[in-house]
Amino acid sequence: MEKVLITGSNGLLGKYLVQLYSQQKEIRCIACSRGANRLKQTEGYVYEPVDFTSEEAFQTLVRKHRPQVIIHAGAMTQADDCERNKEACWNTNVTATEQIVKIANEVGAFLVFLSTDFVFDGLSGPYREEDLVNPVNYYGASKVAAERVVMQTAKNWAIVRTVLVYGLADDPKRGNIITWVRDNLRSGKNIKVVTDQWRTPTYAGDLAEACRLIAGKRAGGIFHISGEEMLTPFEMAQQVAKYYSLDAGLMIPVDADSFTQPAMRPAKTGFIIEKAKAVLGYQPISFNEGIRLLEQL
Ligand SMILES: NC(=O)c1ccc[n+]([C@@H]2O[C@H](COP(=O)([O-])OP(=O)(O)OC[C@H]3O[C@@H](n4cnc5c(N)ncnc54)[C@H](OP(=O)(O)O)[C@@H]3O)[C@@H](O)[C@H]2O)c1
Repeated sequence: MEKVLITGSNGLLGKYLVQLYSQQKEIRCIACSRGANRLKQTEGYVYEPVDFTSEEAFQTLVRKHRPQVIIHAGAMTQADDCERNKEACWNTNVTATEQIVKIANEVGAFLVFLSTDFVFDGLSGPYREEDLVNPVNYYGASKVAAERVVMQTAKNWAIVRTVLVYGLADDPKRGNIITWVRDNLRSGKNIKVVTDQWRTPTYAGDLAEACRLIAGKRAGGIFHISGEEMLTPFEMAQQVAKYYSLDAGLMIPVDADSFTQPAMRPAKTGFIIEKAKAVLGYQPISFNEGIRLLEQL
């Protein structure tokens, strides 16, 4: 039976990957994250607590299960945290990836590495897989370095870059743009929403499915996986307000530079997803469909 090991299972993508793989009867899913399992769903997979920056602990885990596929979704993901704590960011995102590549090579696993639109500078989005990277913050730089490690040292690999992922996390403290807009407008609060950044937002369920297709086909190389619509946060918020018939007048349009944040953000990213469509048959849902799905979950 094929075994798939997922890192960062307590995270947003991790939750959707575990949900997806635990339904596949022909696959044994091994989920791992730091500390206790925080997913509500506990059936259909094995959970292993591990800090993947500890080389020995992670090696022991991989040698125990000998997975055919490793999906490395765990990372230090908050750009501002990475800017403030560069050493932790490098250890988690780059050094640990070096170690994970080594053990993946040792057991002959196909490695799926999750990366980001923040590898680009945002001056000429939307981007294709072969476009030149040029990160504007430390998080992006750490992902560029980790991508190089994967490309240069992994034997069997895919890099999955994605953009502004939304979904329902099990952690009640973690919101998303849809619930943030909905909840504030419902309680009659004004919100400042950015009009000069552009993204192709990605439903976490679509991203999980793309990872599954890539792993299943052992499709190598870089893949851009996101939604298809280029939207500003303000346009996303307008769609949410319309869907829930809430007062869009409470939304104050602002420029990104009206917020002072430690990490710079690229202005216009977004992806061209033709490769994923052609190679995988990937077809993401629309943002409006995403709003509807999140209401039902
Ligand atoms: N979300 C987005 O908008 C977005 C956009 C572009 C790219 N990505 C990439 O997609 C991937 C998944 O993102 P996500 O949104 O699911 O991230 P997330 O919700 O922040 O989840 C990351 C998970 O990794 C775990 N982790 C971090 N360091 C660890 C360590 N040393 N040992 C074990 N586990 C560790 C975290 O554990 P704790 O919960 O214990 O902290 C967390 O559960 C990441 O590689 C991210 O860079 C995400």
